[in-house]
Amino acid sequence: MDLQIAGGVAAVTGAASGIGRATAFYLAAEGVQVVLLDLDLPAAESVVAEITANGGRAAAIQVDVSDDTSVQRAMAQATDVFGGLDYLVLCAGISTLFGKAVDEIAAAQWDREFGVNVRGQWLPVKYALSALRASSREPAISIVASDSALFAAPLNAAYEATKGAVLMLTKALAVDLRPDGIRVNCVCPSVVDTPQSRGALGIAEGGYADIGYPVHTPEDIARYLTLLISPVTRTINAHPLVADFGYSAQSNFPA
Ligand SMILES: NC(=O)c1ccc[n+]([C@@H]2O[C@H](COP(=O)([O-])OP(=O)(O)OC[C@H]3O[C@@H](n4cnc5c(N)ncnc54)[C@H](O)[C@@H]3O)[C@@H](O)[C@H]2O)c1
Repeated sequence: MDLQIAGGVAAVTGAASGIGRATAFYLAAEGVQVVLLDLDLPAAESVVAEITANGGRAAAIQVDVSDDTSVQRAMAQATDVFGGLDYLVLCAGISTLFGKAVDEIAAAQWDREFGVNVRGQWLPVKYALSALRASSREPAISIVASDSALFAAPLNAAYEATKGAVLMLTKALAVDLRPDGIRVNCVCPSVVDTPQSRGALGIAEGGYADIGYPVHTPEDIARYLTLLISPVTRTINAHPLVADFGYSAQSNFPA
C-alpha cells in the first residue's frame, strides 16, 4: 500500500529511543524526511547517522518538550531544516512513578510527569501549527497516549492521569484544527518493549521473553502512528487507536 507520505517532512519527538526511534526509522524508510527531537541529542544523532547511512534524510535537534522556550526554538529549527513541516509525531514521554501510592507522590514529581507527558504534547503542536497550516500536503499529527488513558492498573495514578489528559487533548486538538485540515489521532498501546517500560516494570536483562503476556515491539506502534498520519486514513480523526491484543475486550465476569 502506498502511504502517500514520501517526500514529506515529519518532526518526531522522543525520537532517540523506543517508539519514537522506531517511528523515525519507519518514516525514513517510507521516504519521509525526518527531524528527530529529543532531550538526548547524542542518541538522536546516532539514529540520524543510521538513517543517513541507509540513504534516508534526517536531522537531530535537542529539545525539552516540557519547556516553552526550548520547544519554540526547536520547532523553528525543525521547520527550517527541510524547508517546512507536514507531519508531527509525538512520542516523548516518561513513566517515573509506577508503583507509588498516591500519598507517596511528591507534588513536584506529579508536576514533572504532567510537564513532560501533557504540556510536552501541547507545546510542539502550538509551535508547529503555522508550519503545518502552510503544508501543501494533508498535514496530520499522531500522538502516543497509552491504554493507561482508559484503564487503571494499581499504583500508577500519575501516569494514568497524564495519559487520560493526552487522550482528551487529542480530541480537543482534532476538533480545533479540523478547519485547518489537520487531523489529530492517538495510539493507546498496552506494554511495548522499550527502555521506558523495562525501567518502570523492573524488567531484567532477558527482557519480556518469559513474561506470560503479550508485548508490542516499538515497530508495531511505529506502523500505527505512521498509518494515522498517512492520507490513507484521511477519514479517521480524533481517534484513540487501542492496541492491546484484545485484552480490554474481555470481561472480568463474575466481578
Ligand atoms: N513502553 C510502553 O510500554 C508504553 C506503553 C504505552 C505508551 N507509551 C508511551 O510511548 C511514548 C514513548 O515511550 P517509550 O516507551 O518509547 O520510551 P523511551 O524511554 O524508550 O523513549 C522516550 C524518549 O523520550 C525522550 N524524552 C523524555 N523526556 C523528554 C523531554 N522532556 N523532552 C524531550 N524528549 C524527552 C527520551 O530521551 C527518550 O528518547 C511515551 O509517551 C510513553 O508514555 C509507552
